[in-house]
Amino acid sequence: MTDHLSIRPRRLRQSAPMRALVRETTLRPSALVLPAFVREGIREPQPISSMPGVVQHTLDSLVDEGRRAIEAGIGGLMLFGVPTTKDATGSGAIDPDGILNVATARLRDEFGDDLLVMTDLCLDEFTDHGHCGVLDDRGRVDNDATLEVYSQMAVAQAEAGAHLVGPSGMMDGQVGVIRRALDRAGFTDVTILAYTAKYASAFYGPFREAVNSSLTGDRRTYQQDPANLREALRELELDVAEGADIVMVKPGMPYLDVLTRVAEASPVPVAAYQVSGEYAMIQAAAERGWIDRERAILESLTGFVRAGADVVLTYAAIEAARWITEPRQVAR
Ligand code: PBG
Repeated sequence: MTDHLSIRPRRLRQSAPMRALVRETTLRPSALVLPAFVREGIREPQPISSMPGVVQHTLDSLVDEGRRAIEAGIGGLMLFGVPTTKDATGSGAIDPDGILNVATARLRDEFGDDLLVMTDLCLDEFTDHGHCGVLDDRGRVDNDATLEVYSQMAVAQAEAGAHLVGPSGMMDGQVGVIRRALDRAGFTDVTILAYTAKYASAFYGPFREAVNSSLTGDRRTYQQDPANLREALRELELDVAEGADIVMVKPGMPYLDVLTRVAEASPVPVAAYQVSGEYAMIQAAAERGWIDRERAILESLTGFVRAGADVVLTYAAIEAARWITEPRQVAR
């Protein structure tokens, strides 16, 4: 009767030190990246109502955030720009005086190589129609014309000082043209974090507020169908062949199976993005006292790493890094 009870998995769970001894997955602050919004023409940081605790930064408050990021030991900042004016081709994206490029240059000025500065490489924040690319005469997103703009945007971001660019527009061939444009301009060291499997997701909702998005409609002609997995592996093959240094799956929690499969197949590091809607859900439930915010965030981030992520983008990066470094006292 007691035979099978000689094997007791609970022995390894009996105390905090025992659990720590056999823990399979650990979160590193240096693997966490903070997405940050910087808005042109504001004097004070602006709260984002659907993302409590996240703001649209001024240039100065962004620098403060950069300092906190370094102190917390996180992996870097991924910058998104919120311009005051937009046009059909998103020309603010390639303008050295455009907000994203100005912010990039400012962070490099302040911190040099002490903080990894990453830039979103996509047109949606800069176009008056809100799409990730330029439109053809029938109003469809024109893949190849968009690639031309992405090439210029990549060089503009590298000139501003970006260590890494993150093409997030899901245009075919984007990684290849960006790599070629960067190399031709002498930026062979600028790293490409490719949004490889980016799904057309409802979980980007709060992000639209965060960047004052002009989009009406959706992005289903370029972002992936949430129902598809094989397609993600095809995108992975293409991005790696085109020269991606890091690949990413996005959103995070509803796509952990995709993350695992991509991580198993990828020859390069894999990132996952805990997107605005995932963050907002945790915040909203925590505000109501329905879940423990700190535990929910750390558990979700641990899940990404366990599923195969080497790098995690999360709006809670700085806090999470602090929690990891100085764990709160929990009852045994
Ligand atoms: C597009 C972009 C989006 C996000 C990151 N890059 C929005 C979209 O694809 O609609 C979403 C990030 C988030 O929801 O946190 N530049």
